[in-house]
Amino acid sequence: MATPSRSGVFGAATDQRVEQFTESVSFDHRLYTHDIAGSIAHSQMLAAQNLISQDEQQQIEAALLEIRDEIAENRFELRIELEDIHMHIEQALIDRLGDIGRKLHTGRSRNDQVSTDFRLWVRDAIDEIDRRLIPALQDAFVSRCDQDMDVILPAYTHLQRAQPVLAPHYWLAYCEKLQRDRDRLRDCRHRVNVCTLGTAAVAGTTLSIDRQDVAARLEFEAISANSIDSSSDRDFVLETAFCLTMIAEHLSSWAEEWILWSTVEFGFIKLPHDFCTGSSIMPQKINPDVLELIRGKTSRVIGNLQTLLVLVKGLPLAYNRDLQEDKPALFDAVDTVSACLKLAAPLVAGAELQRDTIAARLEDGYLDATTLMEYLIQCGVPHRNAHHLVGDLVRQAKDRPVPLSGLPSEVFDAAHAGLGDDVYKVLGVEKAVRAFRSHGSTAPKEVAKQVTLWRERLSIT
Ligand code: ARG
Repeated sequence: MATPSRSGVFGAATDQRVEQFTESVSFDHRLYTHDIAGSIAHSQMLAAQNLISQDEQQQIEAALLEIRDEIAENRFELRIELEDIHMHIEQALIDRLGDIGRKLHTGRSRNDQVSTDFRLWVRDAIDEIDRRLIPALQDAFVSRCDQDMDVILPAYTHLQRAQPVLAPHYWLAYCEKLQRDRDRLRDCRHRVNVCTLGTAAVAGTTLSIDRQDVAARLEFEAISANSIDSSSDRDFVLETAFCLTMIAEHLSSWAEEWILWSTVEFGFIKLPHDFCTGSSIMPQKINPDVLELIRGKTSRVIGNLQTLLVLVKGLPLAYNRDLQEDKPALFDAVDTVSACLKLAAPLVAGAELQRDTIAARLEDGYLDATTLMEYLIQCGVPHRNAHHLVGDLVRQAKDRPVPLSGLPSEVFDAAHAGLGDDVYKVLGVEKAVRAFRSHGSTAPKEVAKQVTLWRERLSIT
């Protein structure tokens, strides 16, 4: 059977093996609503430009809407000889309307059609992730700040205990990372949101189309300026994949952290049991599989970005069939990141801090050493000397072994005259946390301010 894209130039039908090999409908069927929206806008423009009649446009639009319903309700047959979703829809239109259906493709090519449809799809995907999924996860973190405000946790550098922080300071750290992810997506959206329809195959068209009109109907922010560029451009796909990779990276390190925190060795957090799995042999096991898979699935997202980078690296201008391979990679990245975000939010909401275990070991690791050093600086000791002195005090405490607050005042006095008198007011993890001042620090006032800002930003009442 003649397919819409096979002109009279061919002397033979396509080999079936070629059809199998070259088809994309098995994955690009996901673009059908966007394809139909694009075609309706295109037909409206064609009518406004008198390239088709109003009556023809109305017939085309009505038939396209019917086809959309058929696909949505699974009443539509996909046949690989029609290659992609775009030709399926066009063929279905021709089956219904004959020559009127054959007019829809006036002034466009599949190259610009595919690009526009994909841009519409990516725009929706970005909106779903940026406006719904990431805020839901941020919401889960911010919503637990009040209840966890009394919990102090060690902050780590090099995975060694470093300084004491309030638990909500951790929660908001994740929120900041996710906010940068949102900002990146929103910025990327501007470059996605450009209409390429009407650049046709590669050089534009001789017909009197109105590209601004189509773009406005599809709520694009701009139209592309160069038809050769638009026919080949997949920057928007790669950039979106990169944004998704950053989200996955953030989720992966958070997952890794909470996997560690949920171990007996750390004992910081109890994961919700409905988000854990058991072992078929060891009855005591409660495994953090969801977190492990969030970490594991990140590799797929990175792999998809890699696929896309390699896909386009050697392509001459303009459209090349290689570009068809962009869709499975980005679909998978979007699906994977969305799935991870959807599970992360309830997991964050349901996790419980193990207050007793945390408190029991909080004085281990000399978390207050830096606070003591800064106290000495306030007493007029130069930073480097204070740093050395406190190192020496920590060594003495380790020898005994006691926390810094367990050293007698004579030891402090020997380190620095008069230090023993009131050093105890900054020693111990609780007091050390309260001693913080700087903007963005874990000072309880600063953290409370940040929680309020986040609640406002996310409209949490
Ligand atoms: N199925 C193809 C794709 O998604 C359509 C390509 C149309 N252009 C072409 N010159 N064959 O990229």
